Amino acid sequence: DVGNSTNIRWHDSMVARTDKEMLLGQRGCVLWFTGLSGSGKSTVACTLEHLLHERGHFTSLLDGDNIRHGLNKDLGFSAEDRAENIRRIGEVARLFADAGAITMTSFISPYRADREMVRERCNAGEFLEVFMNIPLEVCEQRDPKGLYKKARAGLIKNFTGIDDPYEAPLEPEIVVDCFDADGQQRSPRDMAEQILEVLDGMGYLR
Ligand code: PPS
Repeated sequence: DVGNSTNIRWHDSMVARTDKEMLLGQRGCVLWFTGLSGSGKSTVACTLEHLLHERGHFTSLLDGDNIRHGLNKDLGFSAEDRAENIRRIGEVARLFADAGAITMTSFISPYRADREMVRERCNAGEFLEVFMNIPLEVCEQRDPKGLYKKARAGLIKNFTGIDDPYEAPLEPEIVVDCFDADGQQRSPRDMAEQILEVLDGMGYLR
């Protein structure tokens, strides 16, 4: 007779991560997008998520706007709050990666130490830093939410790039340049395909 005792035994040990990854045909990881406001983090992460989904991959996308309205709605933009924002997101991202998802996070994450903290919490090879390499002037020109204008006018204090720091990664796994060889701005699709190729090449997508 199986029944309850079997169920109890199931709770004793969790299903191994590698078994979940086998089922999914991929390796769970955290793609940590970092870059200025207006650098295209969310757009590229969202485009990449579509490309991965089309190919039959299981993904998760943690994005600034939805996290700051829910999980982190108690946090502002002081250095301490940004650090706590990144810490919590890092922990959540690890849980998703542990469940086998190709997990993307899209946050400015301006401080190197905060990003390194998340990297250290992850398993070896699980954390991939994706640097959106784009000059401040281009972001400011785009100004999709009109926030740079407000920051310049002094209506928003501690705005990243204006009167608050952005520390670019020193050794990111993936650098996404905003211009192509001809000096033209690249499309989000082109950037997402670049990241997809890297993931494929590194064996995350089996
Ligand atoms: S952080 O630094 O990683 O904690 O920031 P994040 O959670 O990604 O939130 C950034 C978005 O919040 C808006 N916003 C600000 N950004 C930077 N500095 C200040 N002071 C600020 N106040 C509000 C802004 O719209 C950012 O959105 P994105 O998508 O990056 O443009």
